[in-house]
Amino acid sequence: MAQGNVIVGLDIGTTKILCLVAEVNAPGDVEIIGVSTHPSKGLQRGIVVNIESTVRSIRQAIVDAEKMAGTEITSVIVGIAGGHIRSLNGHGMITLRNREVTQRDIDRVIESATAGAQPADREVIHVMPQEFIVDGERKIKHPVGLYGVKLEAKIHMVTAQVTQAQNLVKCVHNSGLDVQSLVLEQIASSEAVLTPDERDVGVVLVDCGGGTTDIAVFCDGSIKYTSNITIGGDFLDNDISFGLGASKVVAKEIKERYGIASADLVDEDEDIRIDKIAGSGRKKVSKLELANIVEPRLEEIFTMARREIMRSGYYDMLPAGCVITGGSMAMPGSDYLAQKILNMPVRLGIPSQISGLEELVSKPECSTGVGLLLWGSNNQVSNKKIRIRDPQVFKRVFNTMRTWFSDLF
Ligand SMILES: Nc1ncnc2c1ncn2[C@@H]1O[C@H](COP(=O)(O)OP(=O)(O)OP(=O)(O)O)[C@@H](O)[C@H]1O
Ligand SMILES: [Mg+2]
Repeated sequence: MAQGNVIVGLDIGTTKILCLVAEVNAPGDVEIIGVSTHPSKGLQRGIVVNIESTVRSIRQAIVDAEKMAGTEITSVIVGIAGGHIRSLNGHGMITLRNREVTQRDIDRVIESATAGAQPADREVIHVMPQEFIVDGERKIKHPVGLYGVKLEAKIHMVTAQVTQAQNLVKCVHNSGLDVQSLVLEQIASSEAVLTPDERDVGVVLVDCGGGTTDIAVFCDGSIKYTSNITIGGDFLDNDISFGLGASKVVAKEIKERYGIASADLVDEDEDIRIDKIAGSGRKKVSKLELANIVEPRLEEIFTMARREIMRSGYYDMLPAGCVITGGSMAMPGSDYLAQKILNMPVRLGIPSQISGLEELVSKPECSTGVGLLLWGSNNQVSNKKIRIRDPQVFKRVFNTMRTWFSDLF
């Protein structure tokens, strides 16, 4: 039986549900004691389109994780993503009349930065301070106790469409679980694969999963921009299936087994035997043929990612380059192709800073799941359990999250 402070991360992805159970030793120090992954049925491009199928998949992942960890799971930290997510930067200001900044002032200035930025059909899921400015002095992280006349805050705010967030929370609730927190998936992945130095000097995370590609830009140690593209690695399966005349299942299998991200990297061309569609025998295809199908689609994804990075305004301020992660980036040569298209240094991000069951989670597809645990441990969510049993649930989840963020600073 697990002891101590146990938290659970639930990554409800387009292709898989990943459930991770961990004991928290200290903020940022977690030991994983249970891992389970189950095919995800019921999501498209990161959003829930079938409640029943999603609930079934979640239940299966939870039951397996409970067995492995030897503990009952009652509440989870959940990742949220999809094309309905919007993010924006805000700026707030209050006057202090030459006295010390207090925690209440921090809450007020953050409140003023978010005021008016929330349309009725959207809910705030994150409000993250980027910097505080006291009497014109910029880049202050902890202003409490400083004397000043004017306090300003720059913040990054992430909102979700209420109905999409409700559908996700409903799936978790119908699986018999409480939601402790919703965390934007790329914020979670960033916790798992980016180093503090990279965030300080400037870095972009690109998490390419099955149905979405999520982006987060960091500079000066804080988050500056988040965005997502509603295509991911599953689109390669369609292209391979069409191009080679194979079923989608076979296409996915050969992509994962033999796929190489760029034809430039296929040195030893090798024949692969695949089943033709509708059981009409087997045929030979070459690795080069496969790479020639995969490359243009990955190029398209990286080109769209480059456009998003440029839109952030930080493209020229990222000396640490790009960290790619997510299941689709496990394909050999992804870093090579990303570097070519993004024109910056690229490395593959695999979850680190964890102990326990490393062999099961040291994979790019586990970045979000591991990141949910790290985020949870850093934000002490286990002490802030919320029961999701009434129609006011969403307001309570989101209000609580707002409070956690203001607690942080
Ligand atoms: N070795 C590999 N080579 C290429 N693709 C791979 C490999 N391993 C996994 N993939 C692909 O990665 C994708 C799944 O990645 P991941 O588990 O990160 O997605 P997800 O979290 O379920 O989806 P999303 O985050 O988009 O909602 C699938 O398209 C899968 O085929
Ligand atoms: Mg994912």
